[in-house]
Amino acid sequence: MNQFYEDVIHGLTSGQKSLPSKYFYDERGSKIFQEIMALEEYYLPECEVEILQNRSTEILSEIPFESLDIIELGAGDGSKTVIFLKEAMKAIKHLNYIPMDISPEILEVNKALVSQKLPGLNVEAVAGDYLETISLLKERKNPRLLLFMGSNIGNFPGEKALGFIQFINDFLRPGDFFLMGVDLKKNPHIIRAAYNDSEGVTKKFNLNLLGRINRELGANFDVEAFEHYGVYNPLTGSALSFLVSLQAQRISIGDISINFDRYETIHTEISQKYSLKELDTIAAKTGFSWERHFTDEKIYFSLSLMRK
Ligand SMILES: C[S@@+](CC[C@H](N)C(=O)[O-])C[C@H]1O[C@@H](n2cnc3c(N)ncnc32)[C@H](O)[C@@H]1O
Repeated sequence: MNQFYEDVIHGLTSGQKSLPSKYFYDERGSKIFQEIMALEEYYLPECEVEILQNRSTEILSEIPFESLDIIELGAGDGSKTVIFLKEAMKAIKHLNYIPMDISPEILEVNKALVSQKLPGLNVEAVAGDYLETISLLKERKNPRLLLFMGSNIGNFPGEKALGFIQFINDFLRPGDFFLMGVDLKKNPHIIRAAYNDSEGVTKKFNLNLLGRINRELGANFDVEAFEHYGVYNPLTGSALSFLVSLQAQRISIGDISINFDRYETIHTEISQKYSLKELDTIAAKTGFSWERHFTDEKIYFSLSLMRK
């Protein structure tokens, strides 16, 4: 059986129903995510772009290599990365860009954009789950800068985030760098609004996951019978997204039936927010010996550079 099916059945038959957020990004989901990135309320990309525009040269001045593999995990459409790559091409003689993403469709968009904006840059895209595909890069000899932008780290709950950064540290060699985009703790109203936009794009994104299960696994979700709910808890620093069943219902996926009580929820995403102090602790705990935070003016977001 395929992994998607197994993960969906596992998630929907658990006590608290849940679905892994990596499955948001089928072709439709990736397109909707691009719409989210353009939303007024979704401040994250704008802050990250500001940092990339104003501070890429400074970030690159910390990286003393003539040859470099820039490896980007969950690269998406690459629209922000090109700002950094443009500066990197000036600073580094021999540069390779290796975008990795689970969505082959978004990688096509990424490659087309990067080659149009930065002709002459060597791009070697790798499609698949980066937890598996990263091992394909083990033998490459160049020093590495691993990029993990877009606050992707926020999608790992608690200890799993530490485990993931440790996994990255294990992949890097001494002297290599890790640059991570992190959404910082801020006024909770601002965070809450980012996951409850007034145009309902986040709702469409969340509901598309049920649509995808219908399309790919032959399920019979009535998407209209579910609602999106996004909440931010300042005690834990977690923004959580749920799908709420608006009525008692039974759905089937192949020969498996799943019952929903009225108002039962499916947890679909966590977007964890951090303080700069917490990031220092995480870097130290995961084996990085040095780090520096590059923030936007409002200190909403950090691009944190760490060295192994
Ligand atoms: C929140 S988007 C961020 C995209 C981009 N980094 C940015 O900052 O705009 C997350 C991206 O990671 C990809 N992704 C999520 N889980 C993944 C996994 N396990 N392996 C590879 N790619 C993954 C998605 O397809 C999506 O393009």
